Amino acid sequence: MDDLLSLKKAFLDEISSVSDLTGLQNIRTKYSGKKGLVTSKLKALSSIPPDERPLYGSTLNEIKNFIEETLKNKEILLKENEKEKRLQTEKIDITLPGKFTPFGREHPINQVLSEIKDIFVSMGFSIEEGPEVELDYYNFEALNIPRHHPARDMQDTFYVSDDVVLRTHTSPVQVRVMEKKKPPLKIIAPGKVYRCDADISHTPMFHQVEGLMVDTEISFSDLKGVLELFIHSFFGKNTPVRFRPSYFPFTEPSAEVDIGCIFCAGKGCRVCKTTGWLEVLGCGMVNPKVFEMSGYMPDEYTGFAFGMGVERMTMLKYSIDDIRLFYENDLRFLKQF
Ligand code: DAH
Repeated sequence: MDDLLSLKKAFLDEISSVSDLTGLQNIRTKYSGKKGLVTSKLKALSSIPPDERPLYGSTLNEIKNFIEETLKNKEILLKENEKEKRLQTEKIDITLPGKFTPFGREHPINQVLSEIKDIFVSMGFSIEEGPEVELDYYNFEALNIPRHHPARDMQDTFYVSDDVVLRTHTSPVQVRVMEKKKPPLKIIAPGKVYRCDADISHTPMFHQVEGLMVDTEISFSDLKGVLELFIHSFFGKNTPVRFRPSYFPFTEPSAEVDIGCIFCAGKGCRVCKTTGWLEVLGCGMVNPKVFEMSGYMPDEYTGFAFGMGVERMTMLKYSIDDIRLFYENDLRFLKQF
């Protein structure tokens, strides 16, 4: 019997000092395993004298059960401890600020471009496109801009070769569309244009929106109506508008459209050079020569055209005084739109 008591005592010593699951597994093998101490005692039961055997046997059985029970409980306890330890080391601070993903947004020029397109589309205009690398023919010749015209000056135009340029305006799209389609026409052509120029109000690349409406009875009052509606939608319905005679080779008569100065409300200031008016776009009745070169019969059709600078419209709308701000990519500027 003494051997059983010391077995139990040895087990208790070991189990009380074990602190991890591997240690516990070793104890289990040592006592309850196939070749363990308890198992071998059970196997040796027959060598115990018959009169001592019942008591010895039942005590051994109790010890066996006790050891198994204790191992089970200890295992639960150790697993619990290990989980607790893991939770401690993996603890996250939910009060720390999260990782911030900044959102992008549309560039102000594209926002205004969309707004301009929406206004004209709502009036029934459709959208056309043309190439940015353009033939001299479409950019100048077919628009009745003769060889000596200042717009062809080497200072202003980026020449790719003798007869290929980076388009200096969106007007060539007028001719390209007329060559392909028969009237009635009601189109706008937004896009990038290029001029060799850079200062507070010029960048080498900027955007324009061209407009063209052609049918059998289009008059100057149609032009006025469409552009007034556009300006009132874009700048607000109380904006004063005036048409001032001007000159463009591709329109006759030609006009420039002014709006009441938004900086001084028409009183006269530095921006409007004390006139109280700001120029916003160019327009006119399509020159019969342009119709002719596009393959339209000039006595059959009339039409109007207009062209505006998107950067200029944006600067006027938001009182921005330097065009270069659009292309410096300073987020402090861009985030305001
Ligand atoms: N193409 C002209 C420019 O870039 C703007 C313009 C003026 C376009 C009058 C037109 C127009 O269609 O009729 O300065």
